[in-house]
Amino acid sequence: MTDLLTLNSELAFSPQVQGGIAEQDYENALGQARAAFEAVQKRVASDELGFWNLPQADDDLSQEKAVLGQLPATVDHLVVLGIGGSSLGGRTIQRALGQKSTKHQLTFVDNIDPHQFEKLLENIDPFRTAFNVISKSGGTIETASQFVIARDFLKRHLGEEGYRERMIATTDPSQGALRALAADEGLKTLPIPSNVGGRFSVLSAVGTFPALFNDVDVTGILKGAAQMRDACSDADPENNPALKSALLHYLADTQCHRNIQVLMPYSSRLWELALWFVQLWGESLGKKTNDQGEQVELGPTPVPALGSTDQHSQLQLFMEGPQDKFVNFIEVADHQAECVFPDDLPPAYEYLRGSSMARLMKAESQGTAWALANAGRPSMCLTIPQVTAETLGALFFFFEAQTAFAGALYGINAFDQPGVEAGKHIAYGLMGREGFEDAVPAALRKDN
Ligand code: PA5
Repeated sequence: MTDLLTLNSELAFSPQVQGGIAEQDYENALGQARAAFEAVQKRVASDELGFWNLPQADDDLSQEKAVLGQLPATVDHLVVLGIGGSSLGGRTIQRALGQKSTKHQLTFVDNIDPHQFEKLLENIDPFRTAFNVISKSGGTIETASQFVIARDFLKRHLGEEGYRERMIATTDPSQGALRALAADEGLKTLPIPSNVGGRFSVLSAVGTFPALFNDVDVTGILKGAAQMRDACSDADPENNPALKSALLHYLADTQCHRNIQVLMPYSSRLWELALWFVQLWGESLGKKTNDQGEQVELGPTPVPALGSTDQHSQLQLFMEGPQDKFVNFIEVADHQAECVFPDDLPPAYEYLRGSSMARLMKAESQGTAWALANAGRPSMCLTIPQVTAETLGALFFFFEAQTAFAGALYGINAFDQPGVEAGKHIAYGLMGREGFEDAVPAALRKDN
């Protein structure tokens, strides 16, 4: 176990909560959880699941520091090009920990919204800007489109040399179009280990290089992740928080028909973490076939929510809508700020005297969890002491391990994403990429 995160499952079970997981089902599934743990460990031992060992990768950090040191001294703005797993982790770190940095500006492009991208380029100073293009495969069409425009922008303003100095490519160490192009054009590069998939890559250079640029304590993130990895290296769900949480989510889905699974942090700094989780959980677990090749079409649907904001939005649905949800709260014990209410209070708000916004936040999360419980709707809660580099690293590893264990419980491969290819192939065809002409449906051909 670790003091960076505690898991409270008292409101996950029936009869305490009417629609919760039966204690007996949990007991009966403990053997299945141990088998899932062993299956994941087997894949770790065979070096298939590189994410498991990322918290040890000290040498990658020195490589990143060396690349930082090679940037022109004028550079104080890093624009990150990339999408999905190549963007969400970095954005999560920036939102949680990067706000104090005033020296450096960090921008994640993520989407291919032409208006947003054009405005960004109009408003940046090429002398003061570097770009970090991130793509594990090196072939993602959205990232390629961002890259070619940024490449042209730098070349036009600063020439070939200026482009080379200010473009860093983070990609597979040996494969893919971006790796080959970076070698041809003499760009600075950082590796994403070949056995680490996009959505499991936040603890590689994908997340840590932009964070270092933003003066975030990356060593602390990796330390917290390593501590969580130790906590997740026990075959007993009672001693392994990610395995226990995976089992609770799995049983909520398969035994209680709660296949909508909400992650609801009560901290604005953790909002992006909920978005990162959505991609991790959805892309990993939504699968058509299982390990035996049988058609199963399964997977829980992840939903992000923010406490207390979503108490004024989605909560009504969670409280009274279909009995198909399982909520995972994240509470922060100490927000490192109190916001004490002043003594000068209008009569209507007199009851706030002597209290604070921090206390209200806690009351709101407890109130919501118990109100759901009273309505027969189960939940669980993760509590972290504070939002720090260590706890964020621990949360990253916790959710990655939970996803790996859940994949093994469902009997599917959590590390591929065959379903996203079909749409890409049609888009390639529409964009005129050779070899993809036949992917375009006849109905679209006549419009293009
Ligand atoms: O998890 C994944 O593999 C995906 O979400 C990718 O991160 C996303 O598609 C971007 O891919 P790439 O990093 O290869 O450009």
